Amino acid sequence: MAQALAIQNLTMRFDGLTAVDRADLSLQDRQIVSLIGPNGAGKTTLFNCVTGHYAPTEGTVHLGKDELLSGLPPHTIAKKGVVRTFQNIRLFPAMSAVENVMVGRHCRTRAGVLGALLGPPSVRREERAIRARARELLAFCGAAEYEDQQARNLPYGVQRRLEIARALAAEPKILCLDEPAAGMNPRETADLITLITAIRGLGITVFLIEHHMNVVMSISDRVAVMDHGVKIAEGTPDQVQKNPAVIAAYLGEAVGSG
Ligand SMILES: Nc1ncnc2c1ncn2[C@@H]1O[C@H](COP(=O)(O)OP(=O)(O)OP(=O)(O)O)[C@@H](O)[C@H]1O
Ligand SMILES: [Mg+2]
Repeated sequence: MAQALAIQNLTMRFDGLTAVDRADLSLQDRQIVSLIGPNGAGKTTLFNCVTGHYAPTEGTVHLGKDELLSGLPPHTIAKKGVVRTFQNIRLFPAMSAVENVMVGRHCRTRAGVLGALLGPPSVRREERAIRARARELLAFCGAAEYEDQQARNLPYGVQRRLEIARALAAEPKILCLDEPAAGMNPRETADLITLITAIRGLGITVFLIEHHMNVVMSISDRVAVMDHGVKIAEGTPDQVQKNPAVIAAYLGEAVGSG
């Protein structure tokens, strides 16, 4: 298997606080790798360093074998194929579901979305193709029936899947999902497990932050555990669940409660 992403010696400091402390982690192509740990462990900060929302204080992030990502801005990193969703849903509330997904495509279009909506015929042809693709992605994410509804009116679980559809519209090689099951009921969580597995089936590497242990343990190839900015364990779901340091830091009460 080829390397999809390599995080090396990654450190992120805010004033006095070291939110991520010399973290190493690598993802292989088409793996599902989860990052878990208690609140404030540094998981989202690590994602922010991978996606360019923060420039790490120290360390590097490489895409594939040797393409340096760290230090590049988020839109450049997205264009290279590392795309994310956010812990706090970020949709355009007054736009329809399908338009929200179309926006996700904009890093790969010539005219951009506004040009597509307002521009000349060639651009409008491109817009039609983007809209068709957005519909396909909504269907793939199980949200076809909501395509014309405003994002703000959608049930919470649908909004989360809409965010995933939007991220897929950017054609990721690596999809980073920050707590996609947050606020979902058991039924929605089961559907999410199916969806993430299907995303991997498309050939996409999935980097997942998640507190729902049933999701993490059922779909991950590997699990990394952070506590106070430090990666304290890494392994298969089985190995991690048995690791005493993990149990002490976090899993003791969380396992099975997901
Ligand atoms: N921009 C920032 N400025 C200052 N401190 C920050 C910033 N971003 C994160 N932190 C701090 O870094 C630490 C790690 O936060 P982070 O959001 O990465 O944790 P997390 O593991 O994602 O937690 P949660 O499970 O609650 O989402 C926290 O102490 C947080 O307050
Ligand atoms: Mg977080």
